[in-house]
Amino acid sequence: MIVAIDGPAGSGKSTVAATLALRLGFRYLDTGAMYRALTWLALREGVQLDDGIGLGALASAHAVSFGPNGSVTIAETDVSAAIRDAEIDRHVPTVAAHPEVRKVMRERQRALGSAGDAVIEGRDIGTVVAPDAEVKIFLVAAETERARRRTADRPGIEADRLARELRRRDERDAINTRPAVDAVQLDTTELSVDEVVERIERLVEEASR
Ligand code: DC
Repeated sequence: MIVAIDGPAGSGKSTVAATLALRLGFRYLDTGAMYRALTWLALREGVQLDDGIGLGALASAHAVSFGPNGSVTIAETDVSAAIRDAEIDRHVPTVAAHPEVRKVMRERQRALGSAGDAVIEGRDIGTVVAPDAEVKIFLVAAETERARRRTADRPGIEADRLARELRRRDERDAINTRPAVDAVQLDTTELSVDEVVERIERLVEEASR
């Protein structure tokens, strides 16, 4: 079974998806980490971020892999910590916007997702990567709450600046962040992680009957 979890930054996707996967004994695939790792490599290799063809070729040449402990590796480098940097936050929407990049990533994500039960989180999982997913969730949360969560994730950056950057990233990601028509929308603003996970678990149970 595939559980697709989509939504904007700070909607709670990563925490919810990772917790849910653990509880269900499913694999967990963080597709955002793949776009982040490619952005990290493009900056290191000096590939221009407006060069869709060059970035698509870079993505083809360097697969992102995930370790059992959730570590993220590209070009033989563990980038687990580096890809959470604010610099990557700022540049990743530019990289993720190129159709040449998305084509390579989506094929890899389908291959990774098709190997059995998985919780896959991203922006376009329920719509494009896994349109046949048995359970599709679209998480949303109030902007102030999303900015607050980001502040906790990115200590050292001023809250107003984070909120501005989050809004800017939302605008740039919006074109690829859409709920599938059959997705269940959950507003996580006032819910704990456990509450969100439990609701999704119930949907998974219903879907497996
Ligand atoms: O979920 P995240 O913040 O780690 O995602 C990083 C970036 O990658 C974000 O700007 C949107 C993009 N992304 C995407 O376009 N499609 C996905 N399936 C996942 C992420």
